[in-house]
Amino acid sequence: MLPEGNWIGRAPTLKRKAILMAKVQDEGGHGLYLYAAAETLGVSRDQLIEDLHAGKVKYSSIFNYPTLAWADIGTIGWLVDGAAIMNQIPLCRCSYGPYSRAMIRICKEESFHQRQGYDIMLALCRGTPEQKAMAQDALDRWWWPSLMMFGPPDATSVHSAQSAQWKIKLLSNDELRQRFVDQTVPQADYLGLMMPDPDLKWNEATGHYDFGSIDWDEFHQVLKGNGPCNRDRMRTRVKAWDDGAWVRDAAVAYANKHAMREAKQAA
Ligand SMILES: [Fe+2]
Ligand SMILES: [Fe+2]
Repeated sequence: MLPEGNWIGRAPTLKRKAILMAKVQDEGGHGLYLYAAAETLGVSRDQLIEDLHAGKVKYSSIFNYPTLAWADIGTIGWLVDGAAIMNQIPLCRCSYGPYSRAMIRICKEESFHQRQGYDIMLALCRGTPEQKAMAQDALDRWWWPSLMMFGPPDATSVHSAQSAQWKIKLLSNDELRQRFVDQTVPQADYLGLMMPDPDLKWNEATGHYDFGSIDWDEFHQVLKGNGPCNRDRMRTRVKAWDDGAWVRDAAVAYANKHAMREAKQAA
């Protein structure tokens, strides 16, 4: 199963299930907008998907972590979609039109995802001690991988300089990461949860939170395909593509039939 798909059938109420399905549908749309943007650079969608399935294309490291409990869906919305927004808001103003236009719509939908996640966390943290413990456990597991979503430190980031020069990237990895920490720590405080970082503390002089060092070895292992779920995620993805072949074939056959009928009528 893919991270959120695993929980559609397990959502605790009909309302939560409907909200999660809406989120998953949005995410499918985000993929399509971005493939459309990439196609303007002259590569076909089929080629991009083939490369993804062959392991030649990178996808976000965060998708390689397991979703063990319902609280993970809350934490993903709160932190993962929250980190995505932090990354994507500046991209709305980036120099490449097809990319920036896609990002405007994506950001609107991401803010709904972030709220649905935080709302799940709020419900759990106001619930029983067991529910609050579940929320804390999910935060403990997702906090560091969320910080890794901003990419390697500026000093070691390979593509950052080029992307900054082309004005695709307007803020650096470390700047975005710091903004995310500054925004998220008060939200954890409000939930009554502890960040899993003993070095995290407010720095009066800088006006930012100081935080502990990130395990970059883990990050590189996940990128290399050795994260907890890399193989499973890719297998599931390829199977979904293969299982859906008949739907794509039927859609093409239907479109051809209509095109032929129209051509006949026109003749
Ligand atoms: Fe998205
Ligand atoms: Fe999202």
